[in-house]
Amino acid sequence: MTSNDKQANGVEDEPLFDPSILRELDFEHKSRATYNPNISPQNPGEMLKLRPLYKSDYDKGYMNLLSQLTKVGNVSREEFEARFNDLKGCGDTYYIVVIEDMSLNQVIGTGSLVKERKFLRQCASRGRIEDIVVNNAYRGKQLGKLLLDVLTILCQKIDCYKLSLECLDGMVKFYKQFGFDKEDGQNYMVQRFHD
Ligand SMILES: CC(C)(COP(=O)(O)OP(=O)(O)OC[C@H]1O[C@@H](n2cnc3c(N)ncnc32)[C@H](O)[C@@H]1OP(=O)(O)O)[C@@H](O)C(=O)NCCC(=O)NCCS
Repeated sequence: MTSNDKQANGVEDEPLFDPSILRELDFEHKSRATYNPNISPQNPGEMLKLRPLYKSDYDKGYMNLLSQLTKVGNVSREEFEARFNDLKGCGDTYYIVVIEDMSLNQVIGTGSLVKERKFLRQCASRGRIEDIVVNNAYRGKQLGKLLLDVLTILCQKIDCYKLSLECLDGMVKFYKQFGFDKEDGQNYMVQRFHD
């Protein structure tokens, strides 16, 4: 990790995971999507930066961004930091990627990859994609596509044998472009304990 990786707004800060993992992704060869105009994790767009979630993202609208996906409640800074520490403490498990608009110091896109370790398949791991959202004002600029692409490549880099996600019918076409498919006989079942 470089000293720049620990800086946000000039103060000492910390990323959820080592940012060098994103820099080391072989995006050029492993990307599943086509981009027009061309964008990449290093160049997501003018004044945009793709990076891990940082603790300081609480002040950069991260919770507001999530509220465009679902209910988030009233999460205080203390609650946010405690959860951040929990996730980070799990080590090599939670990979939350964000895109920041540096001209506004605001986080405008995010996606999560969770690595679940197993005993089966010779102690293999699988990945799950969660919480993909791009701020309304930035949609249609290929950023959702870039986030998915990056998380899919990252999932292979951290040695998962498969990757899955849950989505509504309308999103199936979006996810198919990254190699996701519905498998015959497989169903997503859910039981909700709270609203
Ligand atoms: C879904 C979402 C992340 C897409 O982000 P985006 O940055 O606008 O998407 P992109 O510009 O990268 O679009 C990439 C492609 O997916 C298509 N696409 C985008 N949103 C789509 C949607 N809701 N349904 C179907 N296709 C969609 C685009 O038309 C585009 O197709 P193309 O490559 O053939 O031109 C964004 O609309 C969003 O945040 N929605 C609300 C939260 C949500 O539904 N998240 C997903 C939960 S499963």
